[in-house]
Formats: sequence, structure tokens, C-alpha cells
Amino acid sequence: MPQGLTDILTEWQSLEEDYEKLQETHRMYLQKLDEVSKLQNSCSSSIYRQRKRVNEISQLVKNCSKGPSEDDAKTLDKIKEKMKTRSNAFFEMEAFLPKKNGLYLSLVLGNVNVTLLSKQSKFGYKDEYEKFKLCLTVILLLFSFICYFSLSYRFLDAILNFLLLWYYCTLTIRESILITNGSRIKGWWVFHHYVSAFLSGVMLTWPDGILYHTFRSQFLAYSLYQSFVQCLQCYYQSGCLYRLRALGERHNMDLTVEGFQSWMWKGLTFLLPFLFFGHFWQLFNALSLFRMAQLPDCKEWQVLTCSLCFLILFMGNFFTTVAVVRQKLKSRNQKPKSL
Ligand code: COA
Repeated sequence: MPQGLTDILTEWQSLEEDYEKLQETHRMYLQKLDEVSKLQNSCSSSIYRQRKRVNEISQLVKNCSKGPSEDDAKTLDKIKEKMKTRSNAFFEMEAFLPKKNGLYLSLVLGNVNVTLLSKQSKFGYKDEYEKFKLCLTVILLLFSFICYFSLSYRFLDAILNFLLLWYYCTLTIRESILITNGSRIKGWWVFHHYVSAFLSGVMLTWPDGILYHTFRSQFLAYSLYQSFVQCLQCYYQSGCLYRLRALGERHNMDLTVEGFQSWMWKGLTFLLPFLFFGHFWQLFNALSLFRMAQLPDCKEWQVLTCSLCFLILFMGNFFTTVAVVRQKLKSRNQKPKSL
């Protein structure tokens, strides 16, 4: 047999052996996947059953709480306390189990599973979301800067508004995926992005004219400021994310909970004045547009609609931010050494 053919046969033999190993590994992988999916189903149905029974028991506790003795009252209090922590535990367990998409995600993505099954990939997704926000915010900042200071074309304003519309729509999808993966983003911030997307859409359709030009520079200056504040906010939130990840990963805790909290408070107290100033700017926009809508020659429906959107944004942002800060202050005073 020629030397070349022998070499080919030996190579092929070794490749065949490798392929057999690969087949075996893949078979094991499929088997494990099957086991994982059975475990997922069993956990999901157990959680469903547990929830149902906890609800039934809490009903019984309510009926039983009329006039029990002191000892019984203490036992009931303990059960109530445990039931509260149980529902948080269910929430955390569910973050690692596949579940049906909500209405919005089903409409946008269809019924594809968006649950990420490891902590690492959840952090990775959130990290990528913060980077995406920062990147788009910088682009928006530059665009608003150009429109405000140098080029005054309705066409460029339309591109800016379209970019804003696309950005906010994308955020609503990404945030729904984050929520499915256990993020505790408050409902308002998601709703905020729907309102902002609607506002950008309305701004896009506002026809060129005297009224548009009266409001234009105020709106562009506001967009510029908002992008600037969002850059600060992204810096703060990705800082929180990295520190929390370090806290979760390191057992020797060279970054302490107190260290995290003091960084968070420093960041928050720096950020808050900028945020509140932005909120009042939104109120100012709402009032300016409302006054404009009262003018006899104002025929555009966009004026009043934008005014209403800014008012909703102001109220939601202001009250939610106050509530977040109050909640953080309360938990700091209650448990100074825990998260
Ligand atoms: N958009 C998207 N996600 C937000 C958010 C926002 N505005 N505010 C909070 N979150 C997320 C956090 O990342 C966190 O997610 P996680 O559970 O996946 O880690 C979760 O919601 C809980 O966050 P929380 O602890 O309540 O707040 P925080 O410390 O991360 O941020 C503020 C607090 C006040 C800085 C933040 O809510 C904020 O920036 N609000 C103001 C936004 C605003 O008004 N923008 C307009 C400016 S003109």
C-alpha cells in the first residue's frame, strides 16, 4: 500500500474514534436535557401547588386571627412571616425556570423561551443592556447637540425622533426579557418607555410651522439634558451591577455590603439633583405646550397630546423616584448591614 494511503487511513481511523466519542457525548447531552426539562416541569408544577396551598392557608389564618390567645397569636405571626418570605423564594426560583411569555413578549417575539438559566448569563444580559443604553444615549446626545447648535432641518429632527422612538421600543422589549429573568424593575419605568415612545412618535408627525419652531429649541435642549442625565444614570446602574456581582461571587468578601451601600448612597445623592431638575423640566415642557395649545391659531393636535405626555412623565418619574429613595432610606435605617 502506498505511504500516502496509509497516512489517510490512520487519520481517518483516529477521526472515526473521535466522532464516536462525540456521538456518545451528544447522546448524554440530549439525555441530560431531557432530565433538565422534566425537572423544570416538576419544579414549576410544585411551585404552582405550593402557591395555591399558601393562599388557602393564609385564608384560614385570616379566619383564625379573631381573638386567639397570646401564644396562638405568636404562632400565627410566625406563620405569616414565613408565608411572606416564601413568596419571595418562589419568585427567585421562577427566575431560573422557563415560563410562558407575557402578552407583550408573545406579540413581539412569539412563544420563544427567553429565560436565561444561569446567574452568569443573567448578569451578562443585564450588562449588555446597560452598555446598549449607554451607547445609544451617547449617539442621541451627539445628535441632539448637532440639531440644537448647528443644523436646523426638520428632516434631521425627524431622524432624531425616529431614533428615540426605536430606542424606547427596543428598551420595552429588553426590559420585558429582564423582568422574565427576575429583574425587579418597577412597572413605571417600563410604562415610562411606552409613553416616551408614543411621545417621540407624536413629535415625529408634528408638521413644520411656527408653533413647531417655537417649541423646537426647548425640546432639543431637553433631549440634550436628558441624554446627559441618562449617561450618569447608566454609570450609576452599571456600577451597582458590577459591585453586586462582586458581592455575589466572592466568598472572602473583599467588597463588603457596607462598601456597596456607601458607594450606592454616594452615587444616588450625586444623581438625584440632576434627576429632579429633569423632572421639573418635563413639567415646564408640559406647561409651555399647554399654554401654546390655548393660542387661537393652534390647530395641531400634537401640541396638547405632547403636553399630556410630558405631564404623565413628570408625575410618574417624580413620584416613583421619591418612592424609590424613601424605600432605600427605610431599608438602610432598618437593616444597616444587609442589602
Ligand atoms: N430604567 C430601567 N431600569 C431601572 C430604572 C430605570 N429608570 N430604575 C431602576 N431600574 C432597575 C434597576 O437596574 C434594578 O434592576 P435589577 O433588579 O435587574 O438589578 C431594579 O430596577 C431595581 O432598582 P432600584 O434598586 O429600585 O433602583 P436603582 O438604585 O437601580 O436606581 C434611581 C434608582 C433613582 C437612580 C433610578 O430609579 C432612576 O434613575 N430613576 C430616574 C429615571 C428618570 O427619572 N429618568 C428621567 C430623567 S430626566
